[in-house]
Amino acid sequence: MNAGASPLLEVRGLRKAFGGLRVTDDVSFDLAAGVVTTLVGPNGAGKTTLFNQITGEAAPDAGGIRLRGESLLGLAPWQVARRGVARGFQDLRLFSHMTVRDNLLTTMEPAAWLWQPGGAARRRQRLDRVAAVLAATGLQAHADARAIDLSYAQRKFLSLARVMAARAPIWLLDEPASGLDRGSYEHFLRLLRDAVRGGVTVCMIEHNLDIVSGASDRVLFLDRGRLLADGTPAAVLSDPALAAIYFGERAA
Ligand SMILES: Nc1ncnc2c1ncn2[C@@H]1O[C@H](COP(=O)(O)OP(=O)(O)OP(=O)(O)O)[C@@H](O)[C@H]1O
Ligand SMILES: [Mg+2]
Repeated sequence: MNAGASPLLEVRGLRKAFGGLRVTDDVSFDLAAGVVTTLVGPNGAGKTTLFNQITGEAAPDAGGIRLRGESLLGLAPWQVARRGVARGFQDLRLFSHMTVRDNLLTTMEPAAWLWQPGGAARRRQRLDRVAAVLAATGLQAHADARAIDLSYAQRKFLSLARVMAARAPIWLLDEPASGLDRGSYEHFLRLLRDAVRGGVTVCMIEHNLDIVSGASDRVLFLDRGRLLADGTPAAVLSDPALAAIYFGERAA
């Protein structure tokens, strides 16, 4: 990371309530280029809702979000995606009845139609990219299978493959490794490290503490909508007060 470099993404004073429930309560943080940030916190802390506000799925009640200095407020999810923020969803949101290949192609907008100059070459590039992502995620033998016919782990990798295929500089991943066995989550970690080496900035929500400590440079701890800590994995994960909150042992 360049010291003093301006943040890639700035979140400032974000507030959102559903009725009387404050789901994000004055949340501020920056994502610096090249840094892997993990958002942790108990169930219902507001982590997914925070992502929803960044990607335009939910409108904040107050606060700001800037990508390279430009506000994302009021943009639709597809506009945020087009500006370079790719998202993996906790509930995957695949196109269940489309093939694995088509699930990837939907994330890659045609830069030119086939009949336009350069269209055929760009289509070839897209198919090459799909093939590379399928190989990296171990899904090449399933390119023509429907998403709904894949195993759970394969669907998790398809969700990641869609993010990879989009070629966005920022990835927001919501529990990308939940429910994966050890071999699969180590595969996920290799893909994550390759992406980071390739210049991708990652912010992920994760409950698997091996992944939190093994893959993140920085951990944000969210509880009941408030950011309680922002530090290295070692510092945040060794804090007994945060551990008590995380494991539901807080004093009432
Ligand atoms: N659209 C909505 N309408 C009303 N309440 C909502 C809505 N979305 C989320 N909530 C509530 O906001 C709180 C935070 O939910 P959120 O999904 O952001 O938590 P989370 O930290 O991602 O939890 P988990 O670890 O279980 O995924 C929860 O109490 C949830 O029920
Ligand atoms: Mg969630």
